[in-house]
Amino acid sequence: MRGPAWLTAPEDPDALVPHLWSQTARKVDGELHVGGLALPELVAEVNTPAYVLDEEDFRARACAFREAFSSYDVFYAGKAFLSIAVARWVAEEGLSLDVCSNSELTVALRAGFEPARIGYHGNNKTLIELRRAVEAGVGRIVVDSFDEIERLESIAAAGLTARVMIRVTAGVEAHTHEYIATAHEDQKFGFSITSGDAFEAVRRVLAAPGLELLGLHSHIGSQIFDSSGFEVAARRVLALQARISEELAVTLPEMDLGGGFGIAYTTQDDPADPAQLATEMSKIVEHECRALGIPEPRLSIEPGRAIVGPAMCTVYTVGTVKRVQLDGGAVRTYVSVDGGMSDNIRTALYDADYSCTLASRGSDAAPVLARVVGKHCEAGDIVVKDEFLPGDVRPGDLLAVPGTGAYCRSMASNYNHALRPPVVAVRDGVARVVVRRETEDDLLATDMGDQ
Ligand code: LLP
Repeated sequence: MRGPAWLTAPEDPDALVPHLWSQTARKVDGELHVGGLALPELVAEVNTPAYVLDEEDFRARACAFREAFSSYDVFYAGKAFLSIAVARWVAEEGLSLDVCSNSELTVALRAGFEPARIGYHGNNKTLIELRRAVEAGVGRIVVDSFDEIERLESIAAAGLTARVMIRVTAGVEAHTHEYIATAHEDQKFGFSITSGDAFEAVRRVLAAPGLELLGLHSHIGSQIFDSSGFEVAARRVLALQARISEELAVTLPEMDLGGGFGIAYTTQDDPADPAQLATEMSKIVEHECRALGIPEPRLSIEPGRAIVGPAMCTVYTVGTVKRVQLDGGAVRTYVSVDGGMSDNIRTALYDADYSCTLASRGSDAAPVLARVVGKHCEAGDIVVKDEFLPGDVRPGDLLAVPGTGAYCRSMASNYNHALRPPVVAVRDGVARVVVRRETEDDLLATDMGDQ
């Protein structure tokens, strides 16, 4: 059985590829350890499936962004993964926080996050949601439609002030999956620069009493490796900034370049580190501002995945192993685990690639190309499309999938009434459940019966 051309059988199937794993992950006699804890011992306590969050790794990545982008404001994008503990770590590491729903705002406020350091996103915020955000003193609301500007005007009419950024669409084709690209014209986010809507939105906000316009916001998409998309977007947004200063005599003090920095899910991915990103992005902005003759705005960025993605792995227990004969005689080994598309929808939704390793023992068995699948009633319920696993992989083994910190727990579902797994933070040999496993009672609590 052959997998994709880039996937080759590892010399030592026990070895971890370091850049796919959190910084404290290592194999000890075949057992995977994270945060100083052996995962077989940990799951004996918390059961599987479970997300294991390496706190030291999360903090180190947050800190690396803050230090590399020291003259910027760095907003952690909570949509990637948010809990009260994580919001506190973000605050302690000196970052600001992005939320994109009222419930995310609730988590942030419950964590005691300073409202002035919260940014609030979304393409369809209701009047009630906006009023709550303004009343809570949220530092910036990123507006995305004329309807929303009107809603904010009505809130401001009651004597409140809203600090606003305007999300613009730069018309960039980002090289990523169609569903996570957001700067081309034909999609739901932002005001188009090309059509003139972005300029009109600026005019409207500037004219509205009670609305304070901080600047323009652009986010081109997610899981992006190539800085050329950021470059084109920055050039177009700064050209708009220059037009605003020329025609409206206003210098907008800030600009947000969004998030979207890619991480490694397989050996094929080679992401830039924060220092490299900071150098490239700052150079682009400096050069454009000089060429346009405008002052450099204070910049901000919004990384989510690049901070939490590599900090988590998911641990599953193998339930069944099936060898399936394919046309042409090849055999594919299907390894079924006790989770699946309910805890990681990314493979099914974006055709995402993941890798995995045997986490509970070493093995000298020759590697076989395996497909790791979940336990849901759906043929597309695939967690890892292709990975080499020891040929003696069997029920009861633990498998760990790295890089599941971003958009896995946060996009988890209850499909087939699955109970969403816990998030267990590990650090210096100590484990803390920061989000507990759901129970059947949690699910039944919303089922009102046949009244
Ligand atoms: N800022 C804005 C305005 C965003 O819309 C997003 C992500 C981010 C920042 C953070 O992007 P990050 O640095 O995490 O890539 N569910 C998809 C990703 C959707 C991203 C939505 N917006 C996935 O699993 O790949």
